[in-house]
Amino acid sequence: MSVDITLGPRPDEPGPAVGGPDAYPPETGARLAADAGVIIERYPHPRSALLPLLHLVQSQDGCLTRAGIRFCATQLGLTDAEVTAVATFYSMYRHSPTGEYLVGVCTNTLCAVMGGDEILQTLESELGVHAGQTTPDGRVTLEHIECNAACDYAPVVMVNWEFFDNQTPSSATALVAALRSGEAVTPTRGSPLCTFRQTARILAGLPPVGDGADRGSPC
Ligand code: FES
Repeated sequence: MSVDITLGPRPDEPGPAVGGPDAYPPETGARLAADAGVIIERYPHPRSALLPLLHLVQSQDGCLTRAGIRFCATQLGLTDAEVTAVATFYSMYRHSPTGEYLVGVCTNTLCAVMGGDEILQTLESELGVHAGQTTPDGRVTLEHIECNAACDYAPVVMVNWEFFDNQTPSSATALVAALRSGEAVTPTRGSPLCTFRQTARILAGLPPVGDGADRGSPC
């Protein structure tokens, strides 16, 4: 018996699975190739570097694009289909343009009953967007997230995957207001807050480069 699985966009992410241009401009491609070389040489087999390379192209584009998929495939000796199969499996790789701050509200069981659902509804109202959408100023992308193993601190909000614990509708409202106005914001624990693209570069295993958009502590 065979089972066909259709890969497509995440339910709360509008748009096609992967879009954008087919290739990077030569200068961008050369810069990314230099960064990719640093990453690839850390692994015994080039294909093992696929996940960090996907973060690298996400740091370039703010989401996955056809150019990013093709770049990873070329660097690693894989097919576009092989890269796409991996890229569409993990929710940290986004398929649509992302704001400077990806605000995720946990609506899994414990956070939901502790107020996560109310927080998400409040932020949707405050920001004027639904989960999966970005504010017109490009500052905040709102999404609902599943359990991040921080149930002790429910309800949890994550910004660019940094934790903001024990949130309430009012504290979460103040949080996104600070992000939109450029005020410094400090996570409850973990690393200083960086922009989405800087965070993606760190997840690729590279030092961040300033994109002039970080609003929190230096990172
Ligand atoms: S249910 Fe929200 S972190 Fe576990």
